[in-house]
Amino acid sequence: MSQYIYSEEDVQKVREASDIVDVISEYINLKRTGANYKALCPFHNEKTPSFIVSPSKQIFNCFGCGEGGDVIGFVMKHLNLNFIEAVELLSERAGIYLEKNTGDYEKTRNKRSKLYELNKDAAKYFYSNLMQNKLALKYLLNRGIDINTVRGFGLGYSKNEWQSLFNYLNNKGYKESDMEEVGLIIKKKSGNGYYDRFRNRIMYPIIDVKGKVIGFGGRVLDDSQPKYLNSPDSAVFSKGNNLYGLNKAKQYTRANSIVLVEGYMDVISLFNHGVKGCAASLGTSFTPEQAKLLKRYSNEYYICYDSDSAGLKAADKVLDILKKMSMKAKVIVLPEDKDPDDFIRENGLEGFHSKMNTGLDYMDFKIYLYKQKYNLSSTEGSINFTKEVSNLLKGIKSSIEVDAYIKKISQETNISEAAIKQEILFNDSGKFNHKTNSKDKYIYGKYRHNNIDRIIPVKHNLQSGHLKAEKSLLKLIILNKDIYILVKDRFKAVNFLDESHKRIASVVYQAYEEGKMVNDDILNHFEGKELEIINSILSVDIPLEGQEKIKAVEDYIKKIEIHKLKIKKSNIKNKIRLLEENNQNNKEENSELRNLRLELSSIDRQLKSHH
Ligand code: GTP
Ligand code: MN
Repeated sequence: MSQYIYSEEDVQKVREASDIVDVISEYINLKRTGANYKALCPFHNEKTPSFIVSPSKQIFNCFGCGEGGDVIGFVMKHLNLNFIEAVELLSERAGIYLEKNTGDYEKTRNKRSKLYELNKDAAKYFYSNLMQNKLALKYLLNRGIDINTVRGFGLGYSKNEWQSLFNYLNNKGYKESDMEEVGLIIKKKSGNGYYDRFRNRIMYPIIDVKGKVIGFGGRVLDDSQPKYLNSPDSAVFSKGNNLYGLNKAKQYTRANSIVLVEGYMDVISLFNHGVKGCAASLGTSFTPEQAKLLKRYSNEYYICYDSDSAGLKAADKVLDILKKMSMKAKVIVLPEDKDPDDFIRENGLEGFHSKMNTGLDYMDFKIYLYKQKYNLSSTEGSINFTKEVSNLLKGIKSSIEVDAYIKKISQETNISEAAIKQEILFNDSGKFNHKTNSKDKYIYGKYRHNNIDRIIPVKHNLQSGHLKAEKSLLKLIILNKDIYILVKDRFKAVNFLDESHKRIASVVYQAYEEGKMVNDDILNHFEGKELEIINSILSVDIPLEGQEKIKAVEDYIKKIEIHKLKIKKSNIKNKIRLLEENNQNNKEENSELRNLRLELSSIDRQLKSHH
């Protein structure tokens, strides 16, 4: 046993950073079924999958053998580790530093649960205040919120007094230092005594996905400033790691969508009108951690921020964060000066749904933004607009999509499709990038990142037919010195296309040259993956005799040569295409292009002669 121990807080951090689906997928194959994932249970033998992983609950469970638990439990069982070892493995994976403690682990846990309790009691107090204060309740009802929604979100009211909450919590026996730590009270400047942070405000308890009250937002009832006050971050509250409303949304959404909004009232109002899956960041900008959290509860996202320029800018940032995490999101752009709350009150659930249906995906939203940034009726604006969009199109994988956008942009700007294509294919200086990288399987390194299918030089994986030909040829060479002598001058070891075959052949060829016998001893020269390969070579079935073998050898060599020519041909075609695009406006044929064309027709002739 280890002498140290990790704090519950640190363990929780590790747990939260280790999505159970991601982690388990690293060990076994998971298949999505609705909201959950399924697999053959790794803990017992079975033919049909009864091992279930729930992304929303972050647990696994096998209905066959009864094993179950969280992500740490899975790692413990699967890798046969103790708790500390499993936590360490996951923390390393997530890049989280763990503080080694020697015993106040219990203390921290007790302290946190005390703070949760404190917050919960405060929330109850605010709630009962609200029910007794007609003015405050009327404020909410006037904003179109039903009493059920008020209850459901546990809304409350902080009295217009300096110490009402402080006295209430004092009477309940809570410590001043705890109240101060969660930010419910503030020490007076004089240093003597405390006063309530929240006074005369509508109170929004912030509840995490486990149902714990972690903090509060408080809104004034009129136009005074500041409009909102929020609890400061504390041992139980971290704004960047939580989302307002997610505790509710998760009960309703499962595999459905979540709408991200900016304000507490937006969440509440949308929910009140029937959009149940909503969440808001907590008065700070959206973080990757919040994206991770969202990913557990949904796989479809909408971003619906205010329609002013600050809102659009913020929405754009959220979109980029989600895109980085492969989370597909659409942006709902509301009419000017409306926030989601205003909009749904005016247009109802149906109106909001139709906005969702016409949400803008990544490219469409970016284009929308650039259109606002540049004046398309000026030449300069059109040029800059097209440049920015072209730059983005470089990142799109589907050539069909790229093509569709090129058409669209061309129509909007009157810039020709050809010119836009060229802008996408070539770098900023307009010069074609000639550099090739022989270590790279792709021809033009630069285009690797652009991922435009049309120009991505094919990555040449050997097709099984050619691999099989190589294996059979190698086997015949290993087993028959006659055949080696027959082929060695026109088919050298380096002529094998597969790297492992190349190495094996060179060992075999050398052995023959040194006058050695080649037989199963050859296995001793190899280990690991290559041993496996040579085993598979020796097990290839070639039921041939005498002349038949010679004929087969010719066929194998031909097959390999043809494949080699085809690879060469497709590389040359790609080069030609790229050069042609570059030369579009250039009437003079360049000599490189001419040579490539000659080479291409020579390859075509050779290929024909093989048939
Ligand atoms: P309503 O005016 O009641 O509709 O508020 P809202 O929920 O629409 O909020 P708004 O769009 O004005 O602001 C979005 C979010 O930013 C709020 O929910 C708060 O989290 C935060 N926020 C707004 N105003 C303030 C402020 O004055 N101080 C702080 N700290 N946060 C604020
Ligand atoms: Mn609002």
